[in-house]
Amino acid sequence: MKFSFIEANSFFKGFILFLRPGTYLNFLSGPFTFAANTIRLSRWISQQPRAAILNDFYQPFRDYAKRHTLHDHVIEREHIRSSPILYLEFGVASATSFTWWLEANKHPDSRFYGFDTFEGLPEDWGFYKKGAMTSDAPVAIDPRAIFVKGLFQDTLFEFLKTHDINDGTKKIIHMDADLFSSTLFVLTALAQYLNNGDVIMFDEFNVPNHEFHAFTCFSDSYYIKTELIGAVNNYYQVAFRIVK
Ligand SMILES: C[S@@+](CC[C@H](N)C(=O)[O-])C[C@H]1O[C@@H](n2cnc3c(N)ncnc32)[C@H](O)[C@@H]1O
Repeated sequence: MKFSFIEANSFFKGFILFLRPGTYLNFLSGPFTFAANTIRLSRWISQQPRAAILNDFYQPFRDYAKRHTLHDHVIEREHIRSSPILYLEFGVASATSFTWWLEANKHPDSRFYGFDTFEGLPEDWGFYKKGAMTSDAPVAIDPRAIFVKGLFQDTLFEFLKTHDINDGTKKIIHMDADLFSSTLFVLTALAQYLNNGDVIMFDEFNVPNHEFHAFTCFSDSYYIKTELIGAVNNYYQVAFRIVK
């Protein structure tokens, strides 16, 4: 009897599933996924431009304050210091980065929305356990600022029904929710509202299984094209421009 390649492939796949490796090899899935995503991240980094943009790769140590150098760079490159922006931040906590952006752009027509449970992370994230980063919801510090309290998964669709985020104002989307699930959910929910020139920033991008993985799943599935505006801390913080 002659087996074609397709029949052999189907037979072996079925046989492997029959052996139920998930019941005794499950401990390998975490390290294997991490290794695969780290390799993908490294390959992605090797394809990024270095010249003529802010990019500090490689640095032996992280300087978290450098994220504001990146934010300043975005403001200069995108000419948004004194023009109206629609700023959407996902993961606000005690509003450190949110307040920075309120200070950096003073245009009276700019709008700033911050989304968070304010009850901490909804899942474990590496060493951080569910509920880590709980913070008091910040009080509205500026009439242009509004905080939307709750899980993104519960609040974002209602927000999009009741707010026009496609009025032509440049969107600055700041992803600082750490988790794969939160990041992928927000990006896919916002996909249809993204316009040429909108900006997406990430605060923990080079974590292989989380923001990086969410970004690649999203851009590969939605055929979204982006170009790098800048990166600091070995791509821990990055900013992209949407290209359409
Ligand atoms: C790293 S903190 C944000 C830090 C803040 N941007 C700053 O600069 O200080 C991450 C936040 O994301 C929030 N978060 C993560 N996933 C979420 C989700 N699915 N819905 C709502 N909030 C979420 C957590 O509650 C947490 O406050």
